[in-house]
Formats: sequence, C-alpha cells, structure tokens
Amino acid sequence: MRVLVTGGAGYVGSVVVEELLAAGAEAVVVLDDLSSGHAGAVSLPARLVRGDIADTDLVIRTCRDCRIDVAVHMAASSIVGESMSDPARYYRNNVTKGLALLDALVTAGVGRLVFSSTAAVYGDPMVSPITEEADLSPTNTYGETKLAFERALRWYGGAYGIRHACLRYFNAAGATVASGEQHDPETHLIPIVLQVAAGKRSHVPVYGDTYATPDGTCVRDYVHVSDLARAHVLAIEGLSRNPSRAYNLGSGGGYSVKQLIDAAVEVTGRAIPYEMGPRRAGDAAVLVASSDLIRTELSWKAEKQDLRVILADAWAWLLAHPAGYRAD
Ligand SMILES: NC(=O)c1ccc[n+]([C@@H]2O[C@H](COP(=O)([O-])OP(=O)(O)OC[C@H]3O[C@@H](n4cnc5c(N)ncnc54)[C@H](O)[C@@H]3O)[C@@H](O)[C@H]2O)c1
Repeated sequence: MRVLVTGGAGYVGSVVVEELLAAGAEAVVVLDDLSSGHAGAVSLPARLVRGDIADTDLVIRTCRDCRIDVAVHMAASSIVGESMSDPARYYRNNVTKGLALLDALVTAGVGRLVFSSTAAVYGDPMVSPITEEADLSPTNTYGETKLAFERALRWYGGAYGIRHACLRYFNAAGATVASGEQHDPETHLIPIVLQVAAGKRSHVPVYGDTYATPDGTCVRDYVHVSDLARAHVLAIEGLSRNPSRAYNLGSGGGYSVKQLIDAAVEVTGRAIPYEMGPRRAGDAAVLVASSDLIRTELSWKAEKQDLRVILADAWAWLLAHPAGYRAD
C-alpha cells in the first residue's frame, strides 16, 4: 500500500497518517498546502509535499515518482459558517479543485480512493440514528460541496474504474499522543471547551437550550480521531472486495453540549464557564450516526466511545502542546 494523503497535515489527516504507518504502509506521502494544517503534524517517515491539490502536474509527478496506488482525499475547507458567507471558496476548494485532483489521479493511474465526507450531507434528518439511507439534503454550502464531490466520484468511479469509499464523519474528537486539534479560528466544541479550561478563553458560547433534547442543548455524536483514522485503513483494505459506497462514522451515541461541558469539568478539574445565547441558523437538534454498515462490512468498531476518554486525550495533548505545533 503506497498512499497519497491530501490534507494529511490537518487534524484528522495527521492521525490517518499515523495509522497508515502503523498498519505497515510501504509509503505515505502527504500533499498539503498548509492553509490550515501544520508541517509539524506530519509523522515521520511520511513525506510532506507542500502544494495544492489542483496543481495537476505536481499531483501526477508525485503519484508517479512515489508509485502511489491509493489516495485518501481529506484536503478541504470545512468551516460551516464560512461556507455560508463565502460559498465560492467552498465550491472552488471542495469541488473545482477536488475534480482537478480526481483528473490527475486518473491520469496517474491511481484507481482507489477514500474520501473524507461529512454528516453535513444529511442536513437536518428526520431519523435518528442516521443511516446511509437517510435523505441527502444539506443545509449549508459545506455539506452541499461534499455531496457534490461524492456524486462526482460515483460517475468518475463508473467511467474510469476508481474504486472508492466515502467516509461520512460525524464529530471527530480527541487526540493521539503526537497529534491533536489546532485550528485558527477554532470552531469545534471540544477544543473550545478545553481552551476555556486552560484559561485561553473566557467562556464557551452555547447556541440555544430550547431544542427537543433532554436538557435543551444540541446533541452530537463524537468519534475518537484514532477510531476514525483506523476506519481509513479498513476502508482501503475493503476497496478490493466491496462495492464503492458511503459509510457513516460515528460512535453510535450522542452527548448534549451541557453534558459535554460537565464531562470536561470532571476530566480537567477546572471551571468551564459558558454563556447561553440564541440558536444558530441551520443547527439540527440531534445528529447521531448509525455506524452499522461499516461495522458489518469492514469490521470497524469504535474503541474509544467514552466521552471522558475522548476529552482526556484531547486535554493531554493540549497540556503537552501549550503553544500548539511548532511554527511551519
Ligand atoms: N473534523 C471533523 O470533525 C470533520 C467532520 C466531518 C468531515 N471532516 C472532513 O475531514 C477532512 C479533514 O478535516 P480536519 O478537521 O482535519 O480539517 P483540517 O482543516 O485540519 O485539515 C484539512 C487539511 O487540508 C489542507 N488543505 C485544504 N485545502 C487544500 C488544498 N487546496 N490543497 C492542499 N491542501 C489543502 C489544509 O492545509 C489542512 O491541512 C476535511 O475534508 C473535512 O471536511 C472533518
């Protein structure tokens, strides 16, 4: 297995690289423009090629020189709010550039691909837990662009023989010893909560407590980034025997925002003030995945389902990296 990982210097990508190396991949090559990733997040002996996924010559040359046989496409723009104020950026990076990458992979003869998709392709589903059969009806540009790429992949797959798996992540969370979450701006709840615990922010903004959930705050499904990363290795292995398809990736349970803050107080032993604000447009009350398909078809299982374990790992990484990754 000789793998190209686009976006491998990002949060989830850096852990996928770790897992691929641990699984014995012969070569792991990261293609990343470092727009939101960090060179220091790429574990050795993976090689970092700094560049854009739409640089066709670079992609073809890299794939040929490194004899790549499978790609994991994780590079993307992925801030929901920004996708609504600047949809052009999302169509450009997630669709236009994504298609340029696909063309280059076809030219270079890379016939297997795992794609980082998202729960946002479902929008605000009527069913819970959400199966892969649920309606695909994104409520934001980010989800729409991820769905557009999934759909393109289906047609490319048929015509050019690309075997593929789309992994629809719910909320990636936690850390490994080496790799953690560092975004600027940070929009994900767990790092924000832990930054408050660490005294780097004054409070956690909470967007509404009038949802139809037990305590009124939104419920989300948090999946440990190591579990998520292991699914990529299984998905690559499964490409040779399974039809191309999409798999949900969640832990199978949900926690409300308030439950998460309470758990973080317990794990960190610190006070974590929060401020209740109005609802945010487009937030669904409950987003919890059914991951039955990936469990049965790829024998994947979340091993770190407990929210306290997820929080403890993320907290340990934050304490060990008070200034984040070294400057690139
Ligand atoms: N983090 C989550 O909870 C979550 C949930 C669902 C889906 N996803 C998807 O998983 C993937 C990884 O998410 P993440 O949280 O690690 O994001 P991230 O921003 O940390 O990582 C994305 C990486 O892609 C790189 N990149 C972006 N555009 C590029 C381009 N044009 N050329 C080369 N490199 C480029 C960035 O520099 C960064 O290293 C994304 O595709 C995201 O949409 C993430």
